[in-house]
Amino acid sequence: MSIAYLNGNFVALQDAKVSILDRGFLFADGVYEVIPAYAGQYFRFDEHLERLNRSLAAIKMELVLNIDEWRQIAEQLLEKNQQLNASLYLQVTRGTYSSRSHELPTQLQPTIMAMISPLPQVAQNLDSKVAGISAITAQDIRWQRCDIKSVGLLANCLLLQQALESGADDTILVRDGMAIEATASNLFIFKDQKVITPPLNQQILPGVTRDFIIMLVKKLGFRLEQRAIPETELLQADEIWLTSSTKEIRPVVRLNDAKIADGKVGAIWHQINELYQQLKKALYQGQLTNIGDISDESKL
Ligand code: PDD
Repeated sequence: MSIAYLNGNFVALQDAKVSILDRGFLFADGVYEVIPAYAGQYFRFDEHLERLNRSLAAIKMELVLNIDEWRQIAEQLLEKNQQLNASLYLQVTRGTYSSRSHELPTQLQPTIMAMISPLPQVAQNLDSKVAGISAITAQDIRWQRCDIKSVGLLANCLLLQQALESGADDTILVRDGMAIEATASNLFIFKDQKVITPPLNQQILPGVTRDFIIMLVKKLGFRLEQRAIPETELLQADEIWLTSSTKEIRPVVRLNDAKIADGKVGAIWHQINELYQQLKKALYQGQLTNIGDISDESKL
């Protein structure tokens, strides 16, 4: 039986219930975060909470809990569910109002919930052959504020389903001819000896993993460009990666039924992923306390 957190209480998941008048249910009026834990330690917890607070501010909500309070809830969820490796989901909605009113009601008690689930399998075993994934491209049908981690994910769900129904694993979204991100991951390509990723703006989520990868890319001495990527450039890339907290770095080897380069997982992905796994371990084992320490080779 799984234990969840809801509005100050730890309860059995099936007993964690909210009103049909909750604005999250009626209007998708809420925001969320997903944070992985390894060996009982949350990975880049503060960065996720900082983004949660930015999302709350963007939808005109007050900060609900401070980072220490969130951390206590997150740690208790691991303990109560006897998990060491897990994905934490936390969500805040504006709360329950007396009627279905479009106007933002003031002084509502927000609905705060958190739960954990198993982490997806990722390519952590560096010796094994990594198959890579396939993707399609499709028009981005989401709203104009994709920088907010809003619970309104119907467009993302439909766009992922489009990939699955055509036998692919994910969809790379295209807006005004530019490839911007995938349905729940940021986008990177490797081309002409450069790592390229779209710049941060209101069209994409500022990924916590995106940030981390940018740092690794620089640490490995590759040139990095943050610029728009025309859809047509994807097929000319040597490598394409999709990054997220729970799925880490997924190499795309087929796009719209064509091979990316030779259709195999690329050498640069191997380098980045190896360093990612190494640093992740150093961070959760406490050898590194913050990213700034990464320049200290002795700690790796
Ligand atoms: N999604 N872009 C979108 C649209 C996302 O939903 C996500 C994360 C990312 C990557 O962000 P990060 O590196 O901070 O995980 C980019 C989470 C995992 C989800 O919705 O489950």
